[in-house]
Amino acid sequence: MFDRIAPAYDLLNSVLSLGIDTRWRNKAIAELPASSNSLHILDIATGTGDMCIQARKRYPHYQYTGLDLSDGMLEIGRQRLKKMNIQGIELIQGDSEQLAFGDNRFDAVMAAFGVRNFENLDKGLQEIYRVLKPGGKLIVLEFSRPRRFPFRQLFGFYFKNVLPLIGSWGSKDAQAYKYLYESVQQFPDYDRFTDRLTACGFHSAGFHSLSLGICCIYTGLK
Ligand SMILES: C[S@@+](CC[C@H](N)C(=O)[O-])C[C@H]1O[C@@H](n2cnc3c(N)ncnc32)[C@H](O)[C@@H]1O
Repeated sequence: MFDRIAPAYDLLNSVLSLGIDTRWRNKAIAELPASSNSLHILDIATGTGDMCIQARKRYPHYQYTGLDLSDGMLEIGRQRLKKMNIQGIELIQGDSEQLAFGDNRFDAVMAAFGVRNFENLDKGLQEIYRVLKPGGKLIVLEFSRPRRFPFRQLFGFYFKNVLPLIGSWGSKDAQAYKYLYESVQQFPDYDRFTDRLTACGFHSAGFHSLSLGICCIYTGLK
C-alpha cells in the first residue's frame, strides 16, 4: 500500500494536516537526547525520510539511519536527499519486527506514524528495545483519538468522512486513507500504549498529547 501512495505521500501529509505535521515531527525531535557527540539515531518506518531530514537540521553532527519496509517510499526519500544534497542519512529497507542490527546499537530510536502499522506491535517494540543502548531513548509520534467534546466528534467526522475522500483523490488509492482511519481506531493510544512500552521492558514510559489529542508523543527509556 505504501509503495502505491509513495509519490503523493508528502504532499498529502501537508494538505491533510494543514502543514501541522511538520510541527508535530519537530516536537518529537525535540525529545532526542542533546549531545556534542555524534549520536547514532534509528528512524523506524522512516517513509520518505522526513524525521531524519528534520532532525538533522537540529543535530547536524548526529548519524541517522532510516529504515522502512517500502522500497517505493525509500526511493522518494533517496531522491529528496540527493536533491537537497544531504549527507549523514542512510535509508535502508528492512522490517521493524526483525531488525538486522546487533544488540545495543543506537543511542535513540524514533518512529513517526509508524508503529501503528506493525503487524505485531509488541514484537516491533521488543526489537526496538533490543537495538537501543542501555539508557537509550525511544520517541514515538502517533495518531490518537481526541477525547474532549465537541472536538472528538468534529475531528472524528473529518477523519472518517472528509480525509479519505481527499486522500483517495490525491493518491488515487481508495483504500489507503480508509485504512488510516481504521488503524487509528484500533491503535492502543494514551496510557494503553505506555503500558505496552512498559511490558516490553521500557522504563519511565510517558506521553503528552498534541493538537487537542490528534497525536501523542510517547517516550520510554531502556
Ligand atoms: C504513515 S508512514 C510514516 C512515514 C514517516 N515516518 C513520516 O513521518 O511521514 C508509515 C510507514 O511505515 C512503514 N512500515 C509499516 N510497517 C513497517 C515495518 N514492519 N517495518 C518497517 N516499516 C514499516 C510503511 O512502509 C510506511 O512507509
